[in-house]
Amino acid sequence: MDTLLIEGGARLSGNFRASGAKNAALPCLAATLLTSQPVRLSNVPALRDIRTMTALLAEMGARMAWDEEAGDVAIDCSGVFRLEAPYDLVRTMRASVLTLGPLVARYGHARVSLPGGCAIGERPIDQHLAAIEALGAQIDLSHGYVDARARRLVGARIPMGMVTVTGTMNVVMAATLARGESVIDNAACEPEVVDLCDFLRAMGARIEGDGTPVIHIQGCEELGGGDFRVMADRIEAGSYLIGCAMTGGEMRFAREDLAHLRLPLDLLTRAGATIHEEADGWTVTGPERLTAVDITTAPYPAFPTDLQAQWMAAMATADGVAVVREEVFENRFMHVAELLRMGADIRVDGATAVVRGVDTLSGAPVMATDLRASASLVLAGLVARGETRLSRLYHLDRGYERLEEKLAALGARVVREQG
Ligand code: UD1
Repeated sequence: MDTLLIEGGARLSGNFRASGAKNAALPCLAATLLTSQPVRLSNVPALRDIRTMTALLAEMGARMAWDEEAGDVAIDCSGVFRLEAPYDLVRTMRASVLTLGPLVARYGHARVSLPGGCAIGERPIDQHLAAIEALGAQIDLSHGYVDARARRLVGARIPMGMVTVTGTMNVVMAATLARGESVIDNAACEPEVVDLCDFLRAMGARIEGDGTPVIHIQGCEELGGGDFRVMADRIEAGSYLIGCAMTGGEMRFAREDLAHLRLPLDLLTRAGATIHEEADGWTVTGPERLTAVDITTAPYPAFPTDLQAQWMAAMATADGVAVVREEVFENRFMHVAELLRMGADIRVDGATAVVRGVDTLSGAPVMATDLRASASLVLAGLVARGETRLSRLYHLDRGYERLEEKLAALGARVVREQG
């Protein structure tokens, strides 16, 4: 298994360009099931999760050409015949459940494995199922699978019981082909939901209100093909942004890369970073030492849970005490045990972590159980004294495109060892 060797002490400096957003590319790929016309997606990142989604679509019968170098995927779903997302794929990537809404809307049937628990909590999909049921599908759960059937979905008012990102995406996709109007209340406002809706509109869907808690969808008989460029990955950009601030570096970011990170940018300014917004981008300069700033994660536009672990790594060597509250997932502090091994001072009580900044971290062999936790350990390794060896790199490969290449271009001393 590959490991990443990080020699601490370098400052992240230089120009950065975010890859396409994993969490927007995944639903866009699933949305191609809604049409029999050819579709082209660009700015698709070459990541393990994307490979899993394309493998899933290919198993269903989609024809696909993916130019990984260019980031272009051409897909033709006209020959889809297998309406199933099997356990083996859903187990490795929960986002496979995004095929449920499109399949049942277009083919009247879907069989999707229940995802089960994952490293960051139970993560049920009850909201997805209730919403698709509200559109008239009959849902049966047996043998670990969801079986959804409907002759044609019918538009409805759908009150989501809680804010869920992929749940909102699933029901928006389903509603685009339902008969009549659907209204989703308490929808997720994440930029990735808006990006998916932009793509659906490019295919002819009629959607209004995305980016707000109430989304209106007028169902159509069918959707057409389309060309669409996936948005920049705000979580990848945010991870490098935090890395720049905590290493005292100076980086330039493209305009769109940080456009949806208003709150993290404000909080980093409060923590001592200097941030200049210019016409075509941003320049970020980290201080010698950050000052502790509290965060609480919550749905957009609050602080993203996908940057919580990275923020904690930054606070581990900041001046003062930071309180980090995780309000989205119930078990998302697995990075704490590893940060403690690197000399951090963190106490966890339920959903709250209290981080007392220490003078310096010390490099250590570490491993993580999820994607963003791994990113936080890379950041901790960048400021630690000595060498950090991160194992289980496959988590990082799910979500950070060309990580060691991008970090090295910014001056970090990182090497991937194949094993
Ligand atoms: C998406 C992102 C993930 C991010 C998360 C929160 C993708 C592929 N993944 O995950 O990176 O961390 O949003 O921003 O886009 N819940 C239920 N029932 C449901 C659905 C969700 O109880 O039917 C709960 C979850 O357990 C969690 C909370 O709602 O506690 C939010 O989860 P959700 O927004 O659905 O996360 P994902 O869409 O899975």
